[in-house]
Amino acid sequence: MPQQHPPRSHAIHARVRSYSRAGGRLTDSQARALERYGDRYVIDVPRADAIRTVDPAFRLDPAAAFGHVGQLRPLIVEVGSGAGEVILAHAAAHPGVDYLAVEAWETAIAKLVAGAAKAGLRNLRVVPADAAQLLATALPVGCASEVWVFFPDPWRKPRHRKRRLVTAAFADSVARVLRPGGVWRLATDWADYAWQMRDVLEAASALPEGLEADCTGPYFRFPDAGARPDLGADTAEEGSLGNGFDPGSPAGVRGGWSPRYPGRVLTRFEEKGIRAGRTIRDLTAVRTGEMWVPLRREAVAL
Ligand SMILES: C[S@@+](CC[C@H](N)C(=O)[O-])C[C@H]1O[C@@H](n2cnc3c(N)ncnc32)[C@H](O)[C@@H]1O
Repeated sequence: MPQQHPPRSHAIHARVRSYSRAGGRLTDSQARALERYGDRYVIDVPRADAIRTVDPAFRLDPAAAFGHVGQLRPLIVEVGSGAGEVILAHAAAHPGVDYLAVEAWETAIAKLVAGAAKAGLRNLRVVPADAAQLLATALPVGCASEVWVFFPDPWRKPRHRKRRLVTAAFADSVARVLRPGGVWRLATDWADYAWQMRDVLEAASALPEGLEADCTGPYFRFPDAGARPDLGADTAEEGSLGNGFDPGSPAGVRGGWSPRYPGRVLTRFEEKGIRAGRTIRDLTAVRTGEMWVPLRREAVAL
């Protein structure tokens, strides 16, 4: 079913958006896929004011959305799934797990729906929303066993970096939705975004012994903090925005990179990064048992 959008308002310009487009011209077959299978796969979201916003009073019940109230099944949330290569492959391979894609761009949503319908998937849904808002309020606390953020929009220009999704406030929202022992997986081909992710994880995590004192009541463990320090150092180019030296560590010695997540199939975005000679970096954090406290969010959101 085609999405009904509220009229554009000034609010869409006032908010910080980590995505560059929400609407888009659909091909006939994409429009048909949404028309035909939207009811099955797309979760309707009451909006706060503008397209992709989320009414703060909205609560999404995953069990109801997947049609198995009362059953306990693992839930994996992928933020910014794009056309859905990774989540579609996983959902097909693991029918006992539920997969929730959160995506802002209509064309990507249509491709995902078409792919899910073609594969006859029953364990995948897509939420057309700004993930930063959805994870902050709408999903239940502790509902997810994994959260994936693969190749988020890099916002390369220094003046655009404030639009990046992975920030301390977003880490707080991921901590909110992950259950204890749940895993946050990230990957990027953009060096200074990788360092930003690493810094965000370090700030919210208990680090391996000897690296730094634990922060009080950390929401995450970051077991690969300091690992693989040389990754990408050989491709570093001074002054390059994409693959330059780590500003936190001029020779790239701080590391923090995990082995490539084997469950991540090669997507168009990763392929593009590899073709351009950029280093792909994965990061992984594990949710501790520390209870999520709403009041702490105010401190990180400032
Ligand atoms: C560069 S693409 C990567 C797609 C996919 N993860 C991959 O690896 O191929 C980033 C995607 O994230 C989506 N996105 C960015 N910010 C978002 C947000 N706040 N909420 C939902 N989707 C978002 C964009 O629309 C885009 O489809």
